Amino acid sequence: MRTVRIFDTTLRDGEQTPGVSLPVNYKIQIAKQLDKLGVDIIEAGFPATSKGEFEAVKEIANLGLNAEICGLARVVKEDIDLAIKTDVDMVHIFVPTSRIQVEHTIMKDREEIINIAVKFVDYIKSYGVKCMFSAMDATRTEVEYLKRIYKAVEEAKVDIINVPDTVGVSTPFKFYDLIKQIKEHLKVPVDVHCHNDFGLAVANSFAAVLAGADEVQVTVNGIGERAGNADLSQVVMILHAIEGIKTNIKTEHLYETSKLVERLTGIKMPPNTPIIGENAFSHESGIHAHGVIRDSRTFEPGILTPEMVGHRRRIVVGKHAGRHQIKKILEDAGYSIDDEKLNRIFEKVKELGDKGKKVTDLDLFTIAEVVLGELKKDERVLTVEEVTVITGNRITPTAVVNAIINGEKKITSAIGVGPVDASLKAVASLLGKSIKIVDFKLDAVSGGSDAIAEVYVTVEDESGRVFTARGASQDIVMASVEALVNAINYLMMIRK
Ligand code: KIV
Ligand code: ZN
Repeated sequence: MRTVRIFDTTLRDGEQTPGVSLPVNYKIQIAKQLDKLGVDIIEAGFPATSKGEFEAVKEIANLGLNAEICGLARVVKEDIDLAIKTDVDMVHIFVPTSRIQVEHTIMKDREEIINIAVKFVDYIKSYGVKCMFSAMDATRTEVEYLKRIYKAVEEAKVDIINVPDTVGVSTPFKFYDLIKQIKEHLKVPVDVHCHNDFGLAVANSFAAVLAGADEVQVTVNGIGERAGNADLSQVVMILHAIEGIKTNIKTEHLYETSKLVERLTGIKMPPNTPIIGENAFSHESGIHAHGVIRDSRTFEPGILTPEMVGHRRRIVVGKHAGRHQIKKILEDAGYSIDDEKLNRIFEKVKELGDKGKKVTDLDLFTIAEVVLGELKKDERVLTVEEVTVITGNRITPTAVVNAIINGEKKITSAIGVGPVDASLKAVASLLGKSIKIVDFKLDAVSGGSDAIAEVYVTVEDESGRVFTARGASQDIVMASVEALVNAINYLMMIRK
């Protein structure tokens, strides 16, 4: 089976993402993770950029990682000398070759550019260091000129040539054709580097591999200049799962690698990002969720599973969920629910859905456990009908509670150190001194400011009996009140 090498440039082109600048310790963390992931080459940076960048590349080159370490340099002696001093295994040199770039950047005769490229390949090789050569803007360069410059560096014993689609203008058929021609023209291994200006970086990289490319440059989460580079996870999983072409990537680390890079660069991936996005293996309600619960291959590719990439599958129960579906999900997870409880769970899910909250399977299980923990309507001593709280930095938090206790309507109020405290004190005051809150614990089930809060409240009566109950809501006050009411009702029932 054919193996394609993965060249990761998250720490170089990825760091060129507008707004991203990685301190040395972050670069080291990412380099170690890339090595754990199994990339073949890490482009650790562009040593001539700054002193810090030089040090980062040098530290990474001396970490003793399995991956080869590469440093970028212009075809300028000072850049190359600095790169060599970092102890990298390979120096990656690049020179513009398209007319537009030559005219406005390097401003040299195109024959002279070939001579410069050859001279610096020779120079790097004289240090016993490997060399990669990139003809920058290759896809906007005349193919005949490209072939000449690549042939010249091949004759100078370059180790690998790179064909960059620098401004992301190629398309899969065009790029396939270009790489095929270059492969037929050269013996040296061919690497490709695709930008995502038209969203084709992954497709173009894939086309290049089909045309015979030996190595692909990628970044974690597809970050990089402008619209970024080809995404590592997508390229790798297309090769592995669809095409049966191997890489050395340990795919089960893809998700954690993406998360680390998200955290350290501050660039968050949209939830619908393939492979590593939060929704990549999430199923909304209805036919899909039902099918996936029976056999995940019904509405997933099957050749791609969350386990393969270290992700997880989630069933998301939205506002379109049906009673039957909720019942089925819960029963499949081992819950047994009667119709009254199912209605309560269903109402809560709809309420959250109407507020725009997506309810994951985990949220659903929390809601179910709270509802299952509630007494039936006719067994409840206390029902809270309305809670009103006012709070702010200039007023004392105050809560007013309307409730029915032992069949009688009551209204009560209390102040507290915050809205939760005030509300709990108001509810507890309905029972005079007979109930004391002895413990309170708050958890968030899912992330975000609209997460479901899960609250545990423990109450104690005069004879020392204690009971703990739960409440769950997006509103911390309501979750707390619910937990307290549940605990009080149980305690009252036990007393009876
Ligand atoms: O996009 C590009 O052409 C590059 C080169 C340095 C390879 O990043
Ligand atoms: Zn680039």
